[in-house]
Amino acid sequence: MNHFDLWGEPAHVDPLPILARMRSEAPIVRLFDPHQGAPEWVVTRYADVVELLRDNRFSKDKRKLPPRSREMYFRVSELDALDKHMLFADPPEHTRLRSLVAKAFTPRRMRDMQPRIAESARWLLREADETRGSGGVNLLEVFAFSLPITVLAELIGVPLEDQPRFKAWTNILAAPPDFESLRRMAVEFQEYLAEFIQRRRAEPCDDLTSALIAAEEQGDRLSAVELMSMLFLLIAAGYETTGNLIANSVWALLKHPAELARLRAEPSLLESAIEEVLRYCPPVKNTIGAYPLADTKFQGQVIPEGEKVVASLLSANHDPEQFEEPERFDITRSPNKHVAFGLGPHFCLGAPLARLEASVAVDVLVQEYPRLAFAEDPSNLRWREAVFIHGLNRLPVIW
Ligand code: HEM
Repeated sequence: MNHFDLWGEPAHVDPLPILARMRSEAPIVRLFDPHQGAPEWVVTRYADVVELLRDNRFSKDKRKLPPRSREMYFRVSELDALDKHMLFADPPEHTRLRSLVAKAFTPRRMRDMQPRIAESARWLLREADETRGSGGVNLLEVFAFSLPITVLAELIGVPLEDQPRFKAWTNILAAPPDFESLRRMAVEFQEYLAEFIQRRRAEPCDDLTSALIAAEEQGDRLSAVELMSMLFLLIAAGYETTGNLIANSVWALLKHPAELARLRAEPSLLESAIEEVLRYCPPVKNTIGAYPLADTKFQGQVIPEGEKVVASLLSANHDPEQFEEPERFDITRSPNKHVAFGLGPHFCLGAPLARLEASVAVDVLVQEYPRLAFAEDPSNLRWREAVFIHGLNRLPVIW
């Protein structure tokens, strides 16, 4: 049993008191992660998190790790064909992959999606309205997760009828019930993507996949495996995260009715409100982790070669050394230099899309559904058991 139990019931009710204790008593601490069945170092102070995410002595590339670490942290070999992507690469390989992808993942492509995102949001809410009867609905199910998967499918060019399968696969990825399900998911997802890419090669169109196939820099292109891994990463990184940003926004605003009223009265505060949600309840609580390639002294602490180190983004965002009254939810907070999207070379590539989707979704809900409210006592709600995601188990609302 860890001295700081981030996996027990109290953490599902509210992890912040445990993280506050870690910041003050053991800001860089080695814990045992029961999900991985392996140790990991957790860094909780804002200043240390910033330092860590910019420190190139920590690698994300598992091929550079000693065999013992690979066995401990990367047990599902079926995922190997899907992990040749930038989140698991170090510079210069990372720089190469990221610049090729940036050619296709342009701000203009994101902006062009705005009207379609608003249309999808309204359509999903109308559908939910028709089927909900007189009781409440689980907003996570009927809306928050449905919107990003629709947006991603359109962005990538995946047919609508394949969306339920996408949803099932990414749910397993975010919170694997067991290794066997993860293995099965990896194989099925891989087969699907390989076949889909083949179709696009034969018949390119105006979607991101066709743009990724065509992306070229100084004669260099993405290989077939890199392309498949890239699509997998976009789906894996963009679905649960954005769904939880939408749900966490609704949860935070309903918990703070004065802030909700302020946003309704002043819709121009929308962007700043989303930034405060990203700080207050960031959908990604921990980075995926990085590994020192030799015994490494970090802020006075020696971290042995190959042991995983994660940055607690949730904790950093609540560090009183950085944020005044961090437990106060203030939609006009400024400055607000949260780390919800990470930092350094791996800063989230999809941040503009996530911000756009959440703004559109929250705007429609808040301005067009004036009776939006919790359908039950919010103290019954629990944070999900998950390795990276900070999201609720369910979000029952009425409107
Ligand atoms: C609110 C929603 C989102 C949050 C909170 C979020 C958060 C993050 C974080 C913390 C990282 C760094 C992880 C690490 O260093 O271990 C990251 C990386 C990444 N994210 Fe996001 N993300 C979100 C949405 C998206 C979306 C919508 C996409 C794309 C469709 C996306 C694509 C990526 C990619 C490709 C990376 C890897 C970047 C690199 O390695 O250079 N994310 N994200």
